[in-house]
Amino acid sequence: MSKRYSIAIDGPAGAGKSTIARQLAAELNFRYVDTGAIYRTVAYFLDLLGISPKDTDGVSRYIDELTIGITYDEDGLQHMIMNGMDVTGDIRTQEIGQKASLVSAQPVVREVLLDMQREVAREHNVVMDGRDIGTVVLPNADVKIFLTASAEVRADRRCKELAAKGQKPSFEKVLAEIRQRDYQDTHRAIAPLKMARDSVKLDTSEMNVQEVLAEMKRIIGEKVTL
Ligand code: DC
Repeated sequence: MSKRYSIAIDGPAGAGKSTIARQLAAELNFRYVDTGAIYRTVAYFLDLLGISPKDTDGVSRYIDELTIGITYDEDGLQHMIMNGMDVTGDIRTQEIGQKASLVSAQPVVREVLLDMQREVAREHNVVMDGRDIGTVVLPNADVKIFLTASAEVRADRRCKELAAKGQKPSFEKVLAEIRQRDYQDTHRAIAPLKMARDSVKLDTSEMNVQEVLAEMKRIIGEKVTL
């Protein structure tokens, strides 16, 4: 089998990981894997069953009832399939993001999803984004990038995204949610969000998407010849 390449992109909520990772994957002709969407699918499934993401017994009892599928449409958009149902749009809410953050601290959930993520990287060249890709999921990734931005900039971007969808979010509320998510994601016992030692940090607070992409391609070019 020829070598598979993997590019790991980690960072806090709202740092622009998915927008950037998706475009990067399209340009490199790699498979894009948004691992946050997988955690969101678990959270959504448990939510429908009325199980709290903090209920360790409930989560372990029902996780086996969930089959997660990942498909891609012609635009390279990742679709999440929950027990045969496409839930791609349903998982994109602040509430499910928050619940995903809580459920991702459950060891059983991380264990199940770990194999699934590694499997994709075994079979495809990937750009994978998440919180623990460079540290845990793909510790031997060819390139590791830690994308970050100040909490205020991330909240501002999130507000603009929500406004574009016709919602009227309060900046203070969105900022508080981002700060809470940062806290949860960096303080959980297993695979917390942290920068891998061999990761390159990129603070995007003052950069636009095109600048971030260009810088990432420069970083990748320094590490591997594709
Ligand atoms: O990137 P996102 O906002 O869609 O992720 C939702 C939550 O899922 C995030 O707050 C923490 C969890 N997550 C994780 O624990 N590990 C990953 N690799 C990706 C996401």
